Amino acid sequence: MAAALFGFCLGFAVLSLVKSGLPPPLVIWHGMGDTCCNPFSMGAIKKMVERKIPGIYVLSLEIGNSLTEDMENSFFLNSNRQVEQVCEQISKDVNLQNGYNAMGFSQGGQFLRAVAQRCPFPPMLNLISFGGQHQGVYGFPRCPGESSHICDWIRKTLNLGAYTKAVQEHLVQAQYWHDPLNEEQYRNSSIFLADINQERYLNESYRKNLMALKKFVLVKFLKDSMVDPAESEWFGFYRPAQAKEIVPLQESLIYTEDRLGLKEMDKAGQLVFLASDGQHLQFSEDWFYSNILPFLQ
Ligand SMILES: *[C@@H]1O[C@H](CO)[C@@H](O)[C@H](O)[C@H]1NC(C)=O
Ligand SMILES: *[C@@H]1O[C@H](CO)[C@@H](O)[C@H](O)[C@H]1NC(C)=O
Repeated sequence: MAAALFGFCLGFAVLSLVKSGLPPPLVIWHGMGDTCCNPFSMGAIKKMVERKIPGIYVLSLEIGNSLTEDMENSFFLNSNRQVEQVCEQISKDVNLQNGYNAMGFSQGGQFLRAVAQRCPFPPMLNLISFGGQHQGVYGFPRCPGESSHICDWIRKTLNLGAYTKAVQEHLVQAQYWHDPLNEEQYRNSSIFLADINQERYLNESYRKNLMALKKFVLVKFLKDSMVDPAESEWFGFYRPAQAKEIVPLQESLIYTEDRLGLKEMDKAGQLVFLASDGQHLQFSEDWFYSNILPFLQ
């Protein structure tokens, strides 16, 4: 017993010593209908990073207590609760206490941005958003993988009343539904996206916390047919009162009024806009190595 305890303490001391020389840890948040550990998505990404950056600690977030729960929660667990749970998990993880990089996939991109804005300790260093919908979506054209029957149901529900209280509380995708024909209703009723985008009021700490990122990397997929509009991945969105013409970030109010500090970050070179010439979340290993890896080391 004593020997085991000694071994444990020694191991811990050595680990702490080695730790200081380790690369920054990485937190990954998967997208809709996916899980932490799918060997064809997040599992493969985790392995790829671990292979390229020896010794890195990678936490691929599981929302819930099983893979099934994790997948279901990506549709039905209130985004604000999800962000709260993740903040708590991150704050308790000894490996993350000196700061961490974060990579969010699809809706995981805007969820991790909420983590950066709401939970500054431990600090997020670089945030990389792959196809995140930072100005929301207006449409649900296609869904990934095996979740298309759930998606058909979600599409109907969103069209019936995305901004009703019951739908807002329980349907994740309603919480970043952004109807350009009803901007005022979106501002009033969206319990997640309108809050993190400071549509209702300014929370100065959201701004300060986001600006504390070293780099905020936004990856857009040039052949994306799942996100409507795909420009949302770079913070662009439809001009209000119509759903055709796109206003890019730099011409939109969130930037000109600088509600999130994005303008200041842009001027300081903290925003990085990347494009991958693929369908939603599709990129090659080589593309990842040359474009993303530098932000993880
Ligand atoms: C601003 O955001 C912080 C972090 O989430 C929160 O603790 C605080 O209550 C918010 N302030 C207001 C006025 O909502
Ligand atoms: C939005 O909220 C304001 C202030 O509470 C209210 O006056 C307005 O009627 C609301 N608009 C919609 C479309 O819900």
